[in-house]
Amino acid sequence: MGVRRVHDPDRTWYLARAESVRPAVILTLNGARREVRAFDEDGTLIDAYDSPPDGVAIQRARQPPEACGMPAQMTALRDIVAGAGAWELLGARQAGNTWREVHRVEGRYVVKSFTIPLAATHYRRPWVREHEALTRAPAGCAPESLGWFEETRDGQRLIRFGRTYLSGAVLDVFTETHVEPVARLLARLHRHGIVTDDANPRNFLIALDGRMLVIDLGRAHWGRPDRWPFHWWVGRELAKVRRRGFQWRDPPWQVFRDRYFREQAFSPAAAAAVRASAGLTTALRQVRMVLQGRSPWT
Ligand SMILES: Nc1ncnc2c1ncn2[C@@H]1O[C@H](COP(=O)(O)OP(=O)(O)OP(=O)(O)O)[C@@H](O)[C@H]1O
Ligand SMILES: [Mg+2]
Repeated sequence: MGVRRVHDPDRTWYLARAESVRPAVILTLNGARREVRAFDEDGTLIDAYDSPPDGVAIQRARQPPEACGMPAQMTALRDIVAGAGAWELLGARQAGNTWREVHRVEGRYVVKSFTIPLAATHYRRPWVREHEALTRAPAGCAPESLGWFEETRDGQRLIRFGRTYLSGAVLDVFTETHVEPVARLLARLHRHGIVTDDANPRNFLIALDGRMLVIDLGRAHWGRPDRWPFHWWVGRELAKVRRRGFQWRDPPWQVFRDRYFREQAFSPAAAAAVRASAGLTTALRQVRMVLQGRSPWT
């Protein structure tokens, strides 16, 4: 990672306001903790660190303008968490060194809690990714982000991330009836330069008004939709739709694929890149499965 230019932390420490820059690293002082944010040339956050990775010199460090480094909407999440009476557990699991819980709060919000030992220095930060992706997602495709905040509790780092709760049915598997809405939803997200990178049906929901929405963008990636690196991500996404969404059932997958490509109207080169990426992703995974002694159709 190279340091070409350093953002003005007063203007850009809050990611959604990041301006378009050349590949760069910004450094901010958040309370007593140094943070590093790495952006690509579109101003997209590509990584975040608690302390600078090797070889990165601190260029500048300042207190961010808003209290506790949280913009207004994130303060609102603090209020929601502090005042909420009804917490309904939707799921909990250990992922690496992080204990994750998902709650429905007050029947209106989803709050994800990430508990990480203070001593841990390497951990994934899906809340940063998810907030940024939900902020970028086109209207009506996904819940709204309420932002995130971090505190220390019982000697642990506790991060809360919030988004709106949507009433509807979470899917288990994509069936023939989902082909059309899923193809349109993913095509729309991809045209906005967002891939979910987790096209598992459990991350999709049919809202009460019949709309198909994506509810989990914790692994999302984004980029310029007309550039080949993004086409590679799109191909990966389609491979997962085939494998995990349609569980290798060819008839609905083929209808989905045709519908998706019709929706996108890719240039011939882009379509070829997406197809190549999807095919390669599938082939490499199948080889890996066989080498692990598992069925290639898992
Ligand atoms: N906005 C929402 N509206 C309705 N239900 C939701 C919403 N967000 C989450 N859920 C429910 O909570 C579950 C877990 O949410 P989410 O997928 O975001 O968390 P996760 O930590 O990624 O968990 P998992 O590993 O199960 O995917 C979803 O599968 C869904 O059942
Ligand atoms: Mg999920």
